Amino acid sequence: MSVLNCIKTVMVACLAIGVVTGCRGDRVQSTLHAAGPPARAVADLWWVMFAVLGIYTLAVFAITGYGIWRKPPAATDDQTPEKNEFFGSTKLILLGGIILPTLILVPLLIYSSAATASMRYRPSGLTIRVIGHRWWWEVQYPDHHIETANQLVVPVGQPVRLELAAGDVIHSFWVPQLHGKTDMLPGKVTVTWLLAERPGIYRGQCAEYCGLQHALMAFEVLAVPPAEFVQWLNHAGPTGQRPTGQRQAVQQPAGEGALETNAVQHPGEAAFFRHGCAACHAIAGTAALGRMGPDLSDLADRRMLAAATLLNTREDLFRWLKDPQSIKPGVKMPATLASDEELWDMVDYLMELKSGKLTLPGGTSDPNS
Ligand code: CUA
Repeated sequence: MSVLNCIKTVMVACLAIGVVTGCRGDRVQSTLHAAGPPARAVADLWWVMFAVLGIYTLAVFAITGYGIWRKPPAATDDQTPEKNEFFGSTKLILLGGIILPTLILVPLLIYSSAATASMRYRPSGLTIRVIGHRWWWEVQYPDHHIETANQLVVPVGQPVRLELAAGDVIHSFWVPQLHGKTDMLPGKVTVTWLLAERPGIYRGQCAEYCGLQHALMAFEVLAVPPAEFVQWLNHAGPTGQRPTGQRQAVQQPAGEGALETNAVQHPGEAAFFRHGCAACHAIAGTAALGRMGPDLSDLADRRMLAAATLLNTREDLFRWLKDPQSIKPGVKMPATLASDEELWDMVDYLMELKSGKLTLPGGTSDPNS
């Protein structure tokens, strides 16, 4: 194959890859479908860079193509090629190598600096603290004494202050539709913000490689109308004084089985303590105070399990409890020695841990109700 054919093949292949991969309608984790100001600054910057540099690249290809395909310069009588034409002159090198790049890159630099600065706004008001762990997200609403995991509930149209930290290694907090990536560093609190302009479920992802299950370290931001958010706050917090909902109804008929801790009454709750789950997980209103793994006080309110790896259904919760290592190899949660019957009891118990009723945005129905 000649050099020319080779170049043509590569150009056609690049075009085909672009067409095939570029136009999927799936908007999950798409930075180009921004739903808030910081994400829009990123998307706009991307489009401007794409347009300007795309035109520039096409121009470079066109000039290169002209250089490859044009007729060779006519030789004069003394066998030296014809000179002083524009292509090949010093003027072209100055224009294309210095003047044009300066005219294009300097405005782009100014624009990108301004876009970066616009993302630095730090609102006061509602604060959510997120701590990255391998491989899940601890979520706190410090002003409301609420603790949850792998899911942020935010009011639509209101800026939210985010305080980000890490519990072990470096992670990066990223909801592509709402803001740019922000590193989470052990021993340092980084402040950033987001604002969801419309109700919806926005998926986020750890964006800094942090070990085996980095790819399955995801979470969701549920943006709900402000009135519903206030309702959720009232139901959800503060941790430790939450209405226990259906748990009370279950606890009433129990009499035997209540050992030294009077809270252990539901057979699933008993199994939860018997198999040591409380060493790593906390459940408000019980003796479970573990801090190694996610707080489970409102587990049934969550849309997803295992850091947005599984849908929060009874079947998937059972699978997760029975053999977490087959779903997320390397995860700190070990398989228990509990029998299937005990595990189903635990599923029953955990699925009752509801704090606030939340109508999930975006027309998605609550998998638990
Ligand atoms: Cu956490 Cu990657």
